[in-house]
Amino acid sequence: MTETEIKKGLAGVVVDYTAVSKVNAETNSLLYRGYPVQELAATQPFEAVAYLLWHGELPTSEQLAEFERLERSLRPLDPRTVALLDTIPVDAHPMDIVRTVVSQLGTFDDTLHRPGGWTDRELDLGRSVYLFAQLPTIVAAVQRRRRGLEPIPPRGDLDYSRNFLWMTFGELPSEAAVDVFRVSMVLYAEHSFNASTFTARVIASTTSDLYSAVVGAIGALKGPLHGGANEAVMHIFDEIRTAGNVVPWLDRALAEKRKIMGFGHRVYKHGDSRVPTMKAALDVLLAESGRDDMAELYATLEAEFVARKGIYPNLDYPSGPAYHLLGFDTEIFTPLFIAARVTGWTAHVMEQAAANALIRPLSAYNGVDERHIGA
Ligand code: COA
Repeated sequence: MTETEIKKGLAGVVVDYTAVSKVNAETNSLLYRGYPVQELAATQPFEAVAYLLWHGELPTSEQLAEFERLERSLRPLDPRTVALLDTIPVDAHPMDIVRTVVSQLGTFDDTLHRPGGWTDRELDLGRSVYLFAQLPTIVAAVQRRRRGLEPIPPRGDLDYSRNFLWMTFGELPSEAAVDVFRVSMVLYAEHSFNASTFTARVIASTTSDLYSAVVGAIGALKGPLHGGANEAVMHIFDEIRTAGNVVPWLDRALAEKRKIMGFGHRVYKHGDSRVPTMKAALDVLLAESGRDDMAELYATLEAEFVARKGIYPNLDYPSGPAYHLLGFDTEIFTPLFIAARVTGWTAHVMEQAAANALIRPLSAYNGVDERHIGA
């Protein structure tokens, strides 16, 4: 009898078509709806990239203006969300808090009760914009609450990135720093069938609702092998402290068979297509803050690890320190990833719904042989 071939972790398995993005590990490229992500990061507001992922085309200036009006109108928190936040322990992990709040937002949506309302594309588009608009307000409020500060209401005169930073810090950083934040959102927005997106698609495939799909995706993103890596990179930096400690730290970490967070990727084996753009953005912040020590630690760890293992940094490696320099707590880094990736998740949920097949793979049984009670 031939052994069933198990594709552990579904590695190398092509599960379905997608028109949302194309990851090409051979050419080290990433396209959103056909556009190289670097071009989008260099030229587009994050709002336009969200629109592109959902609609398949970049918005005209009229479409963008209309979209921005809608998005700005949906930013304020419902008083019931403010009340819910008050019931959650301040030291709960922000990923758990955001996951809980998104779940609550689903309960406000009475269109879910309409016949067919769970999976209606127009309604799902509206829900996607709603989550896109709400998440910055939620994440900023969670960040401020951790610091014992009152939330700052959204400002309708500011674009997505500026408003996000304003609600978090009560002031705007330099234009260059705002741009670093925008670039990070664009780069994090979408990445084909990664673990959280696949989770969202599995949930959507049962014809469950979009909020449930996003809640599940947040759960998947939390893990340090996926989105939690940007947080984990900062913890590693805190452990190593200075460039001079890199070699002994790495000797020990590798002897203990630790995974070095921010390095490696399931798909990219010769480097992550998004890293050069995010590293250039990080360099802006490193120069602005004069943090030569961090620049040196970053470069030394990268050089040592690549030389020893031939495994390259992924997007979380430059984005972790960038979020730190922007002033976010380490535990807020992955919630920032949620705010960005909700665009890709929801685009995939709608794509799944449009050509649905229940996702239900098989397993090979390797437990005890059949047996019987009392035998
Ligand atoms: N640190 C140390 N070793 C690593 C590593 C890392 N970051 N990434 C991969 N490896 C090693 C594995 O230990 C394995 O070695 P082995 O063959 O001796 O057992 C080999 O490289 C292959 O790795 P594997 O875990 O099978 O690759 P994968 O495709 O399943 O894993 C990741 C991809 C992302 C899970 C993995 O690289 C990782 O855990 N990285 C750190 C977490 C991270 O940054 N995640 C964000 C991804 S965007």
